[in-house]
Amino acid sequence: MTLTPFLVATASYLLMLVAYFLRKRRAFHMLVMGATIAFDVSMPFFLVTHRNWWHRLIEQNDILSFLVWMHFGLLITMYALELAQVITARQILKDVPTARATHHSQGRALLVVRGLVILTGGFLAEPA
Ligand code: HEM
Repeated sequence: MTLTPFLVATASYLLMLVAYFLRKRRAFHMLVMGATIAFDVSMPFFLVTHRNWWHRLIEQNDILSFLVWMHFGLLITMYALELAQVITARQILKDVPTARATHHSQGRALLVVRGLVILTGGFLAEPA
């Protein structure tokens, strides 16, 4: 395995940080966050089609590893938070009064969780 997906994910995290701080630039913020979420949704499909997951998880017994399950748990949490961000973003655009504060605090949680997803993914990646 190569480290390319990890490096691309790290770059996308840095871009997400920029979009986090530039939230007043609404179009930029929405474009980058939307692209980041699309990237996150696509990543498992890429890994399943480009990696020998059967060898890694079953033959090499990695499915019993704590790190794999931690990564998986964080991933599910990340998707839930991303869905919640899309829902509250739609509410902000409809001028729902409480949406902005919810979107803000969920966003901070998402930054932490996504950072940990990428970090644990980096630990799991095997350099070629
Ligand atoms: C598809 C995804 C997203 C969309 C469409 C979206 C959309 C928006 C919109 C329309 C605003 C209001 C900007 C303004 O004041 O004009 C906003 C604010 C904000 N967004 Fe997002 N966002 C998304 C994802 C995220 C994510 C993933 C994060 C954090 C990691 C985030 C963090 C924030 C923060 C902190 C604010 C400022 C809220 C405040 O004013 O307190 N957003 N977003």
